Amino acid sequence: MTETLPSRSRRALDPDGFRRALAVHAAGVVVITAQSGGVPVGLTATSFSSVSLDPPLVSFYVDRSSTTWPSLRSAGHFAVNVLASDQAELAARFARKNVDRFAEPTRWRPGPLGAPLLQDVSAHLICLPHETVYVGDHILVVGQVAEATVHGPGRPLIYHQGRFGRFIAHPEERA
Ligand SMILES: Cc1cc2nc3c(=O)[nH]c(=O)nc-3n(C[C@H](O)[C@H](O)[C@H](O)COP(=O)(O)O)c2cc1C
Repeated sequence: MTETLPSRSRRALDPDGFRRALAVHAAGVVVITAQSGGVPVGLTATSFSSVSLDPPLVSFYVDRSSTTWPSLRSAGHFAVNVLASDQAELAARFARKNVDRFAEPTRWRPGPLGAPLLQDVSAHLICLPHETVYVGDHILVVGQVAEATVHGPGRPLIYHQGRFGRFIAHPEERA
């Protein structure tokens, strides 16, 4: 879908209203990790999404201004660490500038191909680069999943309105 809006619909969008509308959308939280030149790198992302089952593809978007992106791009593969509900501090740490994100108290180990795997996450996906597309001020990164491992029952960490939280399922309906 490459159509653009007719010119009369292209009114200047209020950036604050745009941000507020996006903030209403709740999202799961992942940390994307890789090893680049022997150095572990990683960043928190809520833009993670499943893309395709066959072939198995997932995606995320990274800001063009990200200082982690050049290292991620040069890595031969990356890992998606799906965070659990008690890992809000880990998520905040991997979004912070000027800290060693992999230093204590972060607990991690090198994965089968070298990308760091964070401890106690709900799942890990090991991905090989499939496609990279420049879109607006972000870069769409599509990865082919080589390995997927579920570790926990899947209590997810959720991000909504600038805050981390937990998922509460509706009570099951009874007939
Ligand atoms: C909850 C949350 C979600 C985020 N999601 C993304 C994302 O999807 N893509 C992205 O590029 N940055 C995202 N960020 C920002 C990055 O985690 C990080 O702060 C940013 O990349 C700056 O660090 P860098 O220069 O090392 O890349 C998110 C931050 C937070 C707190």
